[in-house]
Amino acid sequence: MVRKVASLVVLGVLASVLTAGQIAAQAGDTSHATGGTPPVRGVVGGDLAPAGRFPWMVRLSMGCGGALTAPRVVLTAGHCVNGSGPDDSIGVVAGVTNLKSADAVEARSVAVVRAEGFHGETRGEDWALIKLDRALNLPTLELGHGGADEAGPLTVLGWGQTSEQSLRQEKRLRYASVPVVSDGACAKAYRKVGVELVQDESICAGKKGVDTCQGDSGGPMVRPAGDKWVQVGIVSWGLGCARKGFPGVYTQISAFRATIRKATRELS
Ligand code: ARG
Repeated sequence: MVRKVASLVVLGVLASVLTAGQIAAQAGDTSHATGGTPPVRGVVGGDLAPAGRFPWMVRLSMGCGGALTAPRVVLTAGHCVNGSGPDDSIGVVAGVTNLKSADAVEARSVAVVRAEGFHGETRGEDWALIKLDRALNLPTLELGHGGADEAGPLTVLGWGQTSEQSLRQEKRLRYASVPVVSDGACAKAYRKVGVELVQDESICAGKKGVDTCQGDSGGPMVRPAGDKWVQVGIVSWGLGCARKGFPGVYTQISAFRATIRKATRELS
């Protein structure tokens, strides 16, 4: 999440190498901790999103992404919100790729429902729903069932950093296609830095030079389904961004589909 970036720059100056424990605690945000990683190009390694291609995509004021799962409900990451209950603190910008566009549709949160089992982004259950102050007249994004849905390559998008070193968020939405990495290979990589992947609640995807990054959290990972899209994941965490051997980790929608749908209905 973006608001942690400043403190992590400090962390990066103080410690050029993180201990495994620090990585476990900070895995989603350790973007400035190690020197020597070559800068990677813009999501990281992506392209500018064409207008109208991802109409359900929204930007949240705390610096996360999200997707309309119902006209009045946004699905995002659990670590992007403070908890469940009434909440009018979140601003939502929808309906545009350029956040500064005059066509931007704005809304506000009225309530948040965070996954009951959420204990931190690397520990699974990293999802939350935000109820808006009104229904938006925009397409919604369907939740995938898993199986062939999750084979990849998958599309990721967001207004987050275009490189691990970048200190800024983007005005224009970017997207990229990422290969899926097996749970086994992903778990093995992260175990080396002290993080135990919650395999049945996560999908790993990305490769050197192509990944989501800080500020993309909460945004959807999707696959095309005819002329529509289906949501397969939610941007959750990773070690730095687009590093060789460390793919991005996404909340596996299929593991929570029924719960998210029920909670969405209750909020609608
Ligand atoms: N936790 C980050 C956020 O709050 C998202 C990190 C994604 N990292 C990655 N390498 N895919 O924006």
